[in-house]
Amino acid sequence: MTTANLQESDTTGDPTESPLIVIASNRGPYSFSVNKDGALESKRGSGGLVTALGALAEKHDVLWIAAALGKGDRKWVEQHEDTVQEVEGIKLRLVRPTARRYDQYYNEIANPLLWFIQHQLWDIPRTPSITRETWQAWRNGYVAVNKLFAEVIADTVRTATGGSNRPVIIFPQDYHLYLVPRYLREMLGRSVQIQPFVHIPWPGPDAWRVLPAEMRNAILTSLLQSDRVGFHTTKDAFNFVQCCRFYVPAAHSRGSRDTIYFHERRVKAHAYPISVDTEQIETLVEEPYTRMLKDQQITFIGDRKLILRVDRIEPSKNILRGLEAYRALLERYKEHIGKVQMLALLVPSRMEVDEYQDYLQAIMAQAGMINAEFSDEYWEPVRVLVGENYHRALAAMQLYDVLLVNPIADGMNLVAKEGALVNERNGVLVLSEYAGAFYELGEKALTVSPFDVHGTAEAIHHALKMQPDERRRRAEALRQQVKNADVKRWFYDQVDDALRASSSQAKKDSTPVTPGTNTSAES
Ligand code: G6P
Repeated sequence: MTTANLQESDTTGDPTESPLIVIASNRGPYSFSVNKDGALESKRGSGGLVTALGALAEKHDVLWIAAALGKGDRKWVEQHEDTVQEVEGIKLRLVRPTARRYDQYYNEIANPLLWFIQHQLWDIPRTPSITRETWQAWRNGYVAVNKLFAEVIADTVRTATGGSNRPVIIFPQDYHLYLVPRYLREMLGRSVQIQPFVHIPWPGPDAWRVLPAEMRNAILTSLLQSDRVGFHTTKDAFNFVQCCRFYVPAAHSRGSRDTIYFHERRVKAHAYPISVDTEQIETLVEEPYTRMLKDQQITFIGDRKLILRVDRIEPSKNILRGLEAYRALLERYKEHIGKVQMLALLVPSRMEVDEYQDYLQAIMAQAGMINAEFSDEYWEPVRVLVGENYHRALAAMQLYDVLLVNPIADGMNLVAKEGALVNERNGVLVLSEYAGAFYELGEKALTVSPFDVHGTAEAIHHALKMQPDERRRRAEALRQQVKNADVKRWFYDQVDDALRASSSQAKKDSTPVTPGTNTSAES
């Protein structure tokens, strides 16, 4: 095998035609519910991925394929008989696995197993146990739902292109859909660009030893059927390359940190750090409802300093050690007693998974203990609010003096970016070195090891005592950093790279091959 016949992409497509962009994700941009009159109502979904892609899909010719999650979604599918429909400008089609298969895919494999591996959340002497049920969930749930997704994508692409030579770029999102590239290649061949994006950390080979070889190889060799795999950081991309080298016998990196050569093809692992929709956030901040919530919070905080955290209820967010650090702060620096307010805005998530329920209970117990120990009749040291209210989060983010973002592992962490963008008090960001955001924001934040409770308490103290000039300088730098890298750029960069690869290949395909002509995508 020579370098000349290694191809980054064999994709063909007429570059003069507008591309068809297909996004596939587990959770779609809209959820549907049946109202009192029996009519279907749509509601825009939440979550970093949905927020990020939602704004873009409204402005681009994109087709979004997602799973039907609730009753309303399933009714929507029935009404539209598996066709693409436009919802508020987004072309949408929903995939409808059976409830049992979906449960196995989402609640037994994707969230408790893959998420836990990639965030390294195991209590290794005890968990996980890969049981017969896990294997069944893998085969009947994860594999089957991925295949179904690929079938629906392939069918939608064929209908949308009608056999034309329009370039097609498919972006499967995240750990729910790792097997989609493999099935799509089988169904659509090399005529499409496949570019998955992994939104969560990709750890090195050791973390993946927890997964049986059959499952691990299925995931890696499927991703290697892509043209390019996107990650938030170069570290994640590098770890992916290392995993392929280590576990897939036919994969070689030839010393590269961001490329894998697999069966005559070159697959790039590339970092595209996600950001927030700055325009949308700036609009939401101005809405009367957000202002009203902000006024309420100003009254609640009074003249205390606000230490804020905003997270899904999620073990990887390290909320327990965050509370421990707060307690350590109050114990060691008594001057803050009565002078600070911790506010934890926590969004319920994946409550069908036991670990998540247990985690919420542990958080409430720990917050209760801190309040029992330190409160007086005028002061409640920690206020925990559970519920989903993005306006409330944006209101609080404008007011923090310290924003605590201390995950054990996190793909990016958009709260760090949202906070930096909207905060009005020159608040200090205390940031874990294991959040993807660390690579962009770390220099302007106070960075901590998520395991170092003492160090986190010291960082919060340092933030509270920081001189106004330094606070202003850091906050301004953070704000600029976020403004300069909006989420649109994140998506455009991926589309640009896919189109460039697609058109360079199309040109080569239309050039008659004469002896000596190099036919590789990148000569
Ligand atoms: C977070 C992660 C995403 C993931 C999403 C799924 O936002 O950063 O990578 O896709 O959670 O959340 P869900 O609520 O759909 O399980």
